[in-house]
Amino acid sequence: MKYSKKVIEHFTRPHNQGAIEQADGIGTVGNPKCGDIMRIYLKINQNSKGQEVIEDIKFETLGCGAAISTSSMMTDLAKGKTLEEALKITNEKVAEELGGLPTLKMHCSNLAADALKKAIEDYQLKNKK
Ligand code: FES
Repeated sequence: MKYSKKVIEHFTRPHNQGAIEQADGIGTVGNPKCGDIMRIYLKINQNSKGQEVIEDIKFETLGCGAAISTSSMMTDLAKGKTLEEALKITNEKVAEELGGLPTLKMHCSNLAADALKKAIEDYQLKNKK
């Protein structure tokens, strides 16, 4: 199985790995194909335009190398984005930014954007007025 250079880079030196204490939103998803799990933590703040922005994002992944790479890449894509922009990040986009994944590993990319969406939903639910 051949991985792109970017996948290997993100696997060996993942960005934004860990947890955020008192996170504003948390999303957890499990991959039904393999049982691997990913959790996303968000810190949300308002920008000068009054939009809610992802100020900080971290991930914990109990999964394979492809799952760690996609988590890392997704956090890079989401950091600094408004919630509206972040909700447009798809699993396909994350895999594409990594230079693709081997077909057999495409299912691993399903965790990243899904966990991000869940974390945003969690934040929105907690902050419903
Ligand atoms: Fe489970 Fe990749 S094998 S996420």
